[in-house]
Amino acid sequence: MRNIVFGFGASLLCLSLFAGVALFSATARGEERIPFTFPPLPTQKMPPVFFTHDKHVEYMERANAECTLCHRETEEGLSETFLDVKAQPENKQIPYLHTACTQCHRNAAAGPRLVDCRVCHDKAVAAQIGKSK
Ligand code: HEC
Ligand code: HEC
Ligand code: HEC
Repeated sequence: MRNIVFGFGASLLCLSLFAGVALFSATARGEERIPFTFPPLPTQKMPPVFFTHDKHVEYMERANAECTLCHRETEEGLSETFLDVKAQPENKQIPYLHTACTQCHRNAAAGPRLVDCRVCHDKAVAAQIGKSK
């Protein structure tokens, strides 16, 4: 389990300090896209999704929003997995991701809807990242 601590409590100051560190180190490693660590994907029918985390943090900053839009606060700090995906029954985890990701896109009137499979499951991106590893 990777519920790593990167915040002590939930003070906004604390969040933004750690956000700076997380952003900086992600950029320093050149990681503009991150893979999903949860749930495990036994089927792999689609190209894996490489999430534009840095860009999403920017989108959220534009809207003056916080990390907690996508990460729950736990006793050990922010959870590194997406919202409540871990709490779902196994067969509901992918539908949960699909719904939670696209619900925000729908509310924001921006970003891919569920029918836009290939915007998230991008074969070219997956092939490129696979190659550079
Ligand atoms: C908003 C982004 C998004 C869209 C749009 C989207 N998915 Fe996904 N999907 C994900 C994420 C995130 C995962 C879990 C992580 C991963 O697969 O790398 C996932 C996982 C899956 C999985 C389970 C893993 C696998 O490959 O077997 C399937 C099947 C899947 N999606 C099919 C679809 C289909 C079909 C569509 C279009 C109707 C679609 N998805 C649209 C984000 C999306
Ligand atoms: C729009 C949604 C969204 C927002 C906003 C968001 N994250 Fe994430 N974050 C994710 C997703 C999705 C993952 C990948 C989850 C997985 O591995 O299954 C992730 C993973 C992470 C990870 C672990 C992977 C890594 O890069 O090392 C950290 C740390 C993290 N986020 C920190 C933050 C911080 C700090 C903020 C606020 C500045 C933030 N996140 C805002 C969606 C988001
Ligand atoms: C809290 C809101 C929010 C959540 C949750 C969210 N997104 Fe987005 N996403 C956005 C916004 C806003 C845009 C469009 C930004 C723009 O076009 O300026 C976007 C754009 C995208 C895009 C297209 C542009 C890019 O950066 O690649 C993809 C792909 C995407 N989102 C995938 C995902 C996936 C996968 C998840 C679920 C893990 C997710 N998003 C969750 C707000 C969100």
